[in-house]
Amino acid sequence: MDKIRADVIVIGAGAAGLRAAIEAASMNQKLKIALISKVYPMRSHTVSAEGGAAAVIKEYDNLESHAYDTVKGSDFLADQDAVEAFVSRAPMELKNLEKWGLPWARDEQGRMAARAFGGMSVKRTFFAADKTGFYILHTLFQRSILYENIERFDEWFVTSLIVENNRFKGLTAIDIKNGTFHYFEGKAAIICTGGIGQLYKTTSNGAINTGDGMALAYRVGAPLKDMEFVQFHPTGLPGKGLLITEAARGEGGYLLNNQNERFMKRYAPEKLELAARDVVSRAIFNEIKEGRGFKGKYGDYIGLDIRHLGKDVIDKKLPTVKEMAEKYAGVNPYNELIPVRPTMHYMMGGVHTNKEAETPIAGLYAAGEAACVSINGANRLGSNSLTECLVFGSIAGYNAARFALEHDYLEVSKEEVTREENRIFDGLIKKENGIPPSDILYELKDIMEEKVGILRNGKDLEEALSSIMKLKERFKQVSVTDKSKTYNTDFIQILELDFMLDVAETITYAALKRKESRGAHYRVDFPKRDDEHFLVHQLVYKSEYEPRIELLPVVITKWKPTERKY
Ligand code: FUM
Repeated sequence: MDKIRADVIVIGAGAAGLRAAIEAASMNQKLKIALISKVYPMRSHTVSAEGGAAAVIKEYDNLESHAYDTVKGSDFLADQDAVEAFVSRAPMELKNLEKWGLPWARDEQGRMAARAFGGMSVKRTFFAADKTGFYILHTLFQRSILYENIERFDEWFVTSLIVENNRFKGLTAIDIKNGTFHYFEGKAAIICTGGIGQLYKTTSNGAINTGDGMALAYRVGAPLKDMEFVQFHPTGLPGKGLLITEAARGEGGYLLNNQNERFMKRYAPEKLELAARDVVSRAIFNEIKEGRGFKGKYGDYIGLDIRHLGKDVIDKKLPTVKEMAEKYAGVNPYNELIPVRPTMHYMMGGVHTNKEAETPIAGLYAAGEAACVSINGANRLGSNSLTECLVFGSIAGYNAARFALEHDYLEVSKEEVTREENRIFDGLIKKENGIPPSDILYELKDIMEEKVGILRNGKDLEEALSSIMKLKERFKQVSVTDKSKTYNTDFIQILELDFMLDVAETITYAALKRKESRGAHYRVDFPKRDDEHFLVHQLVYKSEYEPRIELLPVVITKWKPTERKY
């Protein structure tokens, strides 16, 4: 069995992972950086980010305003010191990308153009048409290949982290191309594996978003934070939930119910369609529930109207919206409404880190959607996520590199590796005639969608939790029919499902314990925000029978929580 050594190991090669690898590699050329990704980097989920990245660059804007919008958007659960650090570093990160070749859209004066986005008080979302993630990913990837000290392990799947006395020392991984098993020794590692949209039936997330990094960290004792906060994007296409970017509303599109009414005026009289996402998603959900949706083959929906923007704006600024509307909904957005309904889009929760991207495990860092700093609190504002990947990716890369320069390798023992190898190859792959993993996966998606979705209540959450526990038991009976070594994606899906079951349990458990409504977490049995008892983060730890929760106070620097109005 192969041992591979690297000073810093980055897991995941989307925006956060690539940015982290670049930062670590550029800090000292003697450091060896291993960049492991279960897909070729260009297929990371960043590629599907559309609307843009937020930062204070325009002369009419200021850091205080970006910070306050973010804190308000979070329903006052974000840590305000982290938000202040985030907004102050954001402009530099976006300008860096400009230097590295990113073709940002331009205004009439030839400067970077900004568009409006939900919950932001001024135009501060910078974009490249509606393919911003695609361009960010390409720019970072091209930059990363300049560094000879970055070695890539494309299409490798990390199965476990190895930690001793609360210090990271290595990990195990499978090379998906040929099914071989390997282990790494590393001085530091950074988790940048993205979110877990695949837990839900309707999601804007790609098939690769299965919460791997969250589960990997959780299993070795790192807590997951703010897991109850699951963001539903207001405008997904009915059916699979593909994203119709918020940029459509940022550019002036609006929402209509079946009475031709611009109903957002009843829910958010000032910001209308550009209120925070949780507010808009609940409004759409409510309109549909009260019978004011249009009928469609994938259930009722609301209409997104961009007809008045005209062909030029749509072609230039929203080409993906047009393409998706035509190809996946069969409508022409020049003269028809686009059918939309909320779709699971983003996890506010993730691996607990401080604002230095450090987890409580020495040498282990996390950044991007897999992490929870927390700058997003109970609800993330659209366009803060790409920026978050850049800001905390670079912070994580820098700090992990520094840690690696100051520490030695710890040896990974043969027993530690063999134990994991046996779990996977003897325990999972050799089993015959068991349950197909898809049976469990589809049931899990149904449970999460129906009971841990936009509206929640104690009874449903209890039922969901007990069903997830049963699925975890049944998971022990799954088997894979394809036993081959080469690109055995059936087998990889079993490992992903195993991770998803753990993370689903933490989301549901945390949602049950938070007996209030805040941001994206809406409890119909506790419809009010309760700052007296719940102005805290919930840290979920793995323990023997059921997860264990510890509370962590929210950091308030300047902004006292007030009622959130849009
Ligand atoms: O609608 C969008 O383009 C999504 C942006 C985001 O989640 O940041």
